Amino acid sequence: MPPHKQRMSERFTGSFTQQEPIPEVGIEAALAVLRHGRLHRYNLAGDEAGEVALLEQEFADFVGAKYCLAVASGGYAIATALRAIGVGPGDVVLSNAFTLAPVPGAITSLGAKPVFVGVTEALTIDLDDLESRAGQAGVLLLSHMRGHICDMDRLMEICDRAGIVVIEDCAHTMGASWNGVASGRHGVMAAYSCQTYKHMNAGEGGFLVTDDAELAAKAIMLSGSYMLYDRHRAAPAPEVFERIKYDVPNISGRMDNLRAAILRPQLAALAGQVTRWNARYRVLEDGLRDTPGLQVIERPVAEHFVGSSIQFLLPDWPSDKIKDVLQRCANRGVELKWFGAPEPAGFTSKYDQWRYAEVHMMPASDRVLAGILDMRVPLTFSLEDCALIARIIRAEVSMVFQSQA
Ligand SMILES: Cc1ncc(COP(=O)(O)O)c(C=O)c1O
Repeated sequence: MPPHKQRMSERFTGSFTQQEPIPEVGIEAALAVLRHGRLHRYNLAGDEAGEVALLEQEFADFVGAKYCLAVASGGYAIATALRAIGVGPGDVVLSNAFTLAPVPGAITSLGAKPVFVGVTEALTIDLDDLESRAGQAGVLLLSHMRGHICDMDRLMEICDRAGIVVIEDCAHTMGASWNGVASGRHGVMAAYSCQTYKHMNAGEGGFLVTDDAELAAKAIMLSGSYMLYDRHRAAPAPEVFERIKYDVPNISGRMDNLRAAILRPQLAALAGQVTRWNARYRVLEDGLRDTPGLQVIERPVAEHFVGSSIQFLLPDWPSDKIKDVLQRCANRGVELKWFGAPEPAGFTSKYDQWRYAEVHMMPASDRVLAGILDMRVPLTFSLEDCALIARIIRAEVSMVFQSQA
């Protein structure tokens, strides 16, 4: 078969939703928890620290934060951060137009109002748009959506000047950094997710980190520590809790020892996993680069990202042609998601589909969103798988692009 025909007949048979198994040491640790039966984080024998408290200490060390709280989900971590800084009903919170539903959802869960800030072709928050909205809100919930980190130095300059408190949503940047600063260490608090499709897999779970003692104490009390806060390790001193303990409601969302047990070995292995993700990302990126009609997202040198997913743009393509690409790729086993789809589907939705929020239309962002295609890169894919997937996308995009010309 001539090479171009061979390229058009290749098919990918792997699964885009299959993560790697939990490391054996994690399984052993989980079995130990199941065998002793003390799953609740405060159910401790003698001077036992407990898996959750140890994990919090290890995660705080990993990102270089003073305090860390492990919780039930990333979305819970975000809402808890917003509550801890005092966001309440009617408050406006700025956030990204390009993100996923749990982000505006966390804002809305407090009765607060999300106001969306645009997205650039780099898939990061539009800093000019942010600057123009600086007077509208006292808080920015910054989502590093799909792991794309904006110029954090400029963002912090804008927010510091305007007195905007920054909370970072690092659901896609656990293990990433900007100019050597770990993602999540620019804002006053940061939230991470350990849901199955993220960089560590506990099924569900999340973290909050901060250097602010009072915010940490509030978050711990909010998460449902009752008066057992002295069982924490990555936590402020008891006198900080003494000051706030009568005023902070219990809104339970703790992590349990079982999940923490499977997360601890994953955290120890995370840096190595990031290297493996990025090797896959670069193979995909190299394979897609210079495809006619397709724009790869150039990553800034200051950004150390985690390539657990990849995005590219089909800028200004008509929707029916993008649908054609999606279908053709799907026929060959390659699952792409589209942020320009008219209806929310699966995990993917966009700002004007979150009708509980007051939406102002953003034509420049709409143009970008309409062209974003998105793909998961699970570590179960080999480098050869990634090369094959890139060949399939390249061939199908080229085919549809040529048919437009
Ligand atoms: C950008 C973003 N932020 C926050 C979350 C919330 O994480 P969780 O699913 O752990 O609540 C997600 C989850 O998909 C996400 O993609």
